[in-house]
Amino acid sequence: MQKIKKYVEQNKQRLLDELFELLRFPSVSADPKYKPDVLKAAAYVAKKLTDAGADKVEICETAGNPIVYGEKIVDETKPTVLVYGHYDVQPADPLELWKTPPFEPTVRDGKIYARGACDDKGQFYMHIKAFELMMQTGGLPCNIKFMIEGEEEVGSSNLGIFVKQNKGRLKADVVLISDTSMISMENPSLETGLRGLSYLEVEVTGPNRDLHSGVYGGAVANPATILAKMIASLHDGNNHITIPGFYNDVIELTAEERKALNNAPYNENEYKKDLGVDELWGEKGYSTFERTGTRPTLEVNGIWGGYIGEGAKTVLPSKASAKISMRLVPNQSSDKITQLFTDHFKSIAPASVKVKVTPHHGGEPVVTPTNSIAYKAAQKAIAESFGKEPIPTRGGGSIPIVALFEAELGLKTVLMGFGLDSDSLHSPNEKYDIFNYYKGIETIPLFHKYFAELSV
Ligand code: BES
Ligand code: MN
Ligand code: MN
Repeated sequence: MQKIKKYVEQNKQRLLDELFELLRFPSVSADPKYKPDVLKAAAYVAKKLTDAGADKVEICETAGNPIVYGEKIVDETKPTVLVYGHYDVQPADPLELWKTPPFEPTVRDGKIYARGACDDKGQFYMHIKAFELMMQTGGLPCNIKFMIEGEEEVGSSNLGIFVKQNKGRLKADVVLISDTSMISMENPSLETGLRGLSYLEVEVTGPNRDLHSGVYGGAVANPATILAKMIASLHDGNNHITIPGFYNDVIELTAEERKALNNAPYNENEYKKDLGVDELWGEKGYSTFERTGTRPTLEVNGIWGGYIGEGAKTVLPSKASAKISMRLVPNQSSDKITQLFTDHFKSIAPASVKVKVTPHHGGEPVVTPTNSIAYKAAQKAIAESFGKEPIPTRGGGSIPIVALFEAELGLKTVLMGFGLDSDSLHSPNEKYDIFNYYKGIETIPLFHKYFAELSV
């Protein structure tokens, strides 16, 4: 541990500068106009992997954004850790809400503000630097393979194909990912599950053109009003989702599991304060952690229609649309839920409008084991570097490829994230604490050490 701390201390500024350089590429995967920056970010990751000592570094082309691969095999008899991360980021909009530009990383109060600071550049880059650290200070306790992709934020569909085509190259004993959150730095935790996702777009069409709202208003159904009513009906008075069959495959947690989850430290007032809300909302009968970690949910991600420009325009719109996502929990299937939603949404539409439902990407939920050697190695690593045992939690977010690692490669995953839910992932002013960044670089080598030790 002393050796590790010393290395970080001696290279402090450079470790930060290199991350800043990575954060300056606006590698937004959702918008094709950023493709040149996406490619530059991939090239940078490849260069840094090579510099740190990786072999067989390759920028693997896909039908979409490239995947950066690199490995260091020190001894075939030692276990192999496959590190996954993503160099793509969410769009930075709305830009005017950023205090400093999203792609010009800025430190305020010990925190790095930038799009991708936490999700996931700041987090996966810790693994490249921890790798460098191990190479420079006595060698690798495990073999290591890196697979850093550029399409996580848009569903990882090309990575899915890559994984299926590269089973030999990706052979490993465990997948290690830092792309999730901890409860807090005082209460380190390890996420033991991720929710699945079913994302779709709906369009409600009324009259064949936008109409004068005075001439026709009152005689023709307004698609915006109809859409609002249809969406509102998707939750009942207890905030349960009303889609028939939606909960059929959900496995209820045992009383013990619920108790363990609810034992995690949680301060409702702080939670509300961070979000600026006076009251929380959610499915009746479940705590906040249960609602976000173990229950399926339905959210409207965006809704539009009619006139939304400056001033007023009296119009009865021809169309109204919304983007809707559902988070899924173990045993639910993304395809099945997409179908249930589609059938239900069409069935509740009045005859005065037509409804189109277009599925986007999806992903399956996962639970990760807490009795594996790898999980124990992560527990030991965190306990040693934080001085406190990590608490197991269930994450609310999704990383679509994790279920595929299990299905295609037979690999379990350890979610050793160092972010905080309050780091504003996907929001304006995303941040990552410099302390967490260094802490991650210090903790990761311990994982490799204990994974090797426990594997013999
Ligand atoms: N890193 C997040 C997922 C996450 C965040 C998990 C916090 C647990 C805690 C990831 O980059 C992400 O945002 N995933 C998307 C997936 C989607 C675009 C297919 C998500 O969850 O919305
Ligand atoms: Mn992420
Ligand atoms: Mn994300």
